[in-house]
Parts: sequence; C-alpha cells; structure tokens
Amino acid sequence: MRVLGIESSCDETGIAVYDSAKGLIAHQVHSQTDVHAPFGGVVPELASRDHVRKMVPLVEKTLAEAGLTQHEIDGIAYTKGPGLVGALLTGAMFAKTLGFVLNVPTIGVHHLEGHLLAPFLEPTPPAFPFLALLVSGGHTELVKVAGLGQYELIGDTLDDAVGEAFDKTAKLLGLGYPGGAALAALAEKGQKGRFRFPRPMTDRPGLTLSFSGLKTFALNTIEGNPKDEQTRADIAYAFEEAVVATLTIKCRRALKETGMKSLVIAGGVGANSALRAALHDLCQSQGVSLFFPRLEFCTDNGAMIAYVGCERLMAGEREDLTVDVRARWPLHELSPP
Ligand code: KG4
Ligand code: ZN
Repeated sequence: MRVLGIESSCDETGIAVYDSAKGLIAHQVHSQTDVHAPFGGVVPELASRDHVRKMVPLVEKTLAEAGLTQHEIDGIAYTKGPGLVGALLTGAMFAKTLGFVLNVPTIGVHHLEGHLLAPFLEPTPPAFPFLALLVSGGHTELVKVAGLGQYELIGDTLDDAVGEAFDKTAKLLGLGYPGGAALAALAEKGQKGRFRFPRPMTDRPGLTLSFSGLKTFALNTIEGNPKDEQTRADIAYAFEEAVVATLTIKCRRALKETGMKSLVIAGGVGANSALRAALHDLCQSQGVSLFFPRLEFCTDNGAMIAYVGCERLMAGEREDLTVDVRARWPLHELSPP
C-alpha cells in the first residue's frame, strides 16, 4: 500500500510517500521559519496561510520525486492533532478532498504518535516495547510504548516544554527564533564550571519535569553579568548542561522503573548533540539500546505521518468525510487499530 502523508500541525509543511513494501520513497519539508522569525514566535494565521500556499506545489514535488502520479496513491494520512487548529484544518481539508476525488481512504494521525514511531523509518528500528523520550517545542514526555496505539504517559512537564525553554532562553540571549539550535552552537564555545543552573525536579522522586524555572534563572544570570560573547556562551553552556543532566536523570529513573531495554529519542530537541551524547553514555552504562530517528525525522515531517497512516490503513482503520481536527488530544486516548 502506498500512502501520501501530510503534516501541517504547526510551522512546517511536510509531505511524503510511504510504501508498505519499499519503505519511504519520497519526502519534502517546507519550513516557515522565515515567515515567523520577525515576530519572535509562530503566528497561527500566517502559518495556516502558508500551508495553503505550499501544500499543492509540495505534493506535486513529492510525487515527482517518487516518480508517481496521484492515481498511484492508495491512501492519504494527515495530521489530525494536536496543533494549531487553523494549520491542522488546511491539511485535513486537503486530505479529505483529495481522498474523495481519488476515491481512496483517508486517516487522521496523532502528531506525537508520528514522532514516537519515526524510528521505524530507519533501517534498524526498535522492537516493542520501548521507552520514549519525546522532546519537542510543544511537548516533553516520557512514554512507555507497548505497540502501535498503546502508549502510557509516565512523565510530563508541569509547565514549559524543553524546546520552549531552549527557544525562550535563546531569545533572552539575543539569538532569534527558533533558537534551540543557535543556543546549542553558542554553548559549544562556553566554558564548563563558570555558571551552574539548577536541575529542576531531580531532588524529589518521580518522573515529573519542569523547565520554566530555568528560563527565569537564565534571565537573572544574563541580567547580573557582563554582556560579552564569552559570558553569553558560558551561560548557554550552563543552561544546556542543566537541561541535559535533568533529562538524563529522568531517563535513568524511567528505565529503572519500567525495566525497558530500548530507549527512543524523538522530537526536535532530539537533534541536540549534547543530549544525544549524554543519553548514549547512559544507555551504554545500563545495557540499553538507544534509537534516534535521523535528524530530519526528529523535527516535524510528513514521513512519520505517512508511516503511521499506512500502518493504520493496512490494519483496516477508516474515516468518513467529516473534517474533524483536535487542537488538544491526549496521547492516551489513542488505541490500537
Ligand atoms: O519537534 P519539533 O520540530 O517541533 C515541534 O513539534 O515542536 O521541535 C522544535 C523544537 C524547537 O523548540 C527548537 O528550538 C528545538 O526543537 N531544537 C533544538 C535543537 N534543534 C531544534 N533544541 C536544542 N538543540 C538543538 N540542536
Ligand atoms: Zn512535532
């Protein structure tokens, strides 16, 4: 079965074709960073309008890359939620309309299920069950994954997502939006030991996370120190060090509690090399296998949506023509097909 995947939950338009026999055969992502950067964050209405502009040309480009015509598509998967409602509606309307015209089934996919199962796009995917650390701009979750549609949330953030904390701290350091990768690059020039940031929620048991305090700590540190380049780099280093240490401590606990032997890192912050290195060391010391999707599948993309949609459509799941998106959609509401 060949499935066209459409991701439009936030500020990336992602289109892909996944083939159940051949795997991923084409994918394209258009990032709206330039549209939102002048505003210091995502402007929902501008996101919707840009998805509308880019969707058709990007689908045509992806089909051309795959060497397929639209009539060779057997199903269409789109991101049904969670995300910005207007942005989600552009993908859902497009998918339902094209599905109706081509007379093929459509399926709405949970964005986070896409992230959690993105490692299945790789040549050596993990086996179920596994523990997943989902770290993106909107979510920071520890999830026990037993199988397709079987997710147990075992750790969550009380406030900011870790990507959000990176972005807000980057903004305070004058690094623009989204600043996670820029902050990580600045941190590489920083010196260890000059500043020490707290490791939130690690002094008490459990898997709850909280990152809004780090941003406040960063603000106070920036205001109370010189503004030279080395100081900014040292602050970036200390911030990243604290985030990585906190996530590593929580992952160690979660592995111990669940007895899982595989760890998956998903979401945009999974691109952070300090985090990757720390979790690599942790897994090695615990005899746990570590899985990362390649960088382009850590951040938002259509391939993960096409993959999940293909699995669910092949299992016989179907939707009618109702256009129904979910701005909020807890992961535990999902079920196996
Ligand atoms: O998964 P994603 O592409 O979008 C959401 O669904 O949120 O994640 C985007 C987030 C942003 O907050 C961005 O700053 C962060 O991932 N990010 C990074 C890095 N690359 C992207 N954070 C830290 N280090 C990086 N190298
Ligand atoms: Zn995402």
